[in-house]
Amino acid sequence: MDLQLGGVRQSDIAALARMSRDLIEVGLPWTWRRQRLVRALLRDDHVGAVLRGEAGIVGFCVMQLSIPAGSDAAGHAHLVLLAVDPAARRRGAGSRLVRWAEQTALVGGVRHVSLETRASSETARAFYRALGYREIRRVERYYSGREAAVVMGRELLGDAEINRARVRADALVADAITRALDDRRRGWATARE
Ligand SMILES: CC(C)(COP(=O)(O)OP(=O)(O)OC[C@H]1O[C@@H](n2cnc3c(N)ncnc32)[C@H](O)[C@@H]1OP(=O)(O)O)[C@@H](O)C(=O)NCCC(=O)NCCS
Repeated sequence: MDLQLGGVRQSDIAALARMSRDLIEVGLPWTWRRQRLVRALLRDDHVGAVLRGEAGIVGFCVMQLSIPAGSDAAGHAHLVLLAVDPAARRRGAGSRLVRWAEQTALVGGVRHVSLETRASSETARAFYRALGYREIRRVERYYSGREAAVVMGRELLGDAEINRARVRADALVADAITRALDDRRRGWATARE
């Protein structure tokens, strides 16, 4: 399955809200509706990614990032939402989204990622354990006062990994700027002809 990872588009919001209701908040009150998603994704501290297949969205994730102000301050990333279409599971889509979130956190200098999973979801807990997350504590009645959460977290790697992530990001940004300038130059050349 060839999946493209990309940003969240406004036209994705309705589908992401439905996935939140049907795959994440199933059996609980539906809180991640369109407006809440839009509000979150318009904030400076939230980022999201979508995995698209030929038939549409296969998975998505949303993360909140607190980026440290000084180089010594500890930042924090919170994985807020993650879901993969049931038909596409166990083929690495969920892992790809978590790795994207971790890479994004590292670029921002953030080393610690945490999240809550429903205590009843053995699948989610097994999934995060497989990706190196450990169970930190249980929070009773976390979900709408009804269901317990298990907080899980992972320390990302140290300075070397952060620097490598930044170099990769810088290279991507530099490449995008070069391409944009080339496009403009080509546009000007055509305009002068
Ligand atoms: C959790 C979820 C995102 C995993 O997505 P996925 O695309 O199936 O994940 P991957 O294919 O990357 O799985 C990676 C590894 O996690 C573990 N894993 C995933 N699903 C598992 C399951 N049902 N049982 C046991 N281990 C599982 C396995 O070790 C797996 O590797 P393997 O397939 O080589 O054995 C998906 O099941 C989902 O959307 N669940 C509902 C929503 C949810 O719980 N979200 C997370 C909390 S918000």
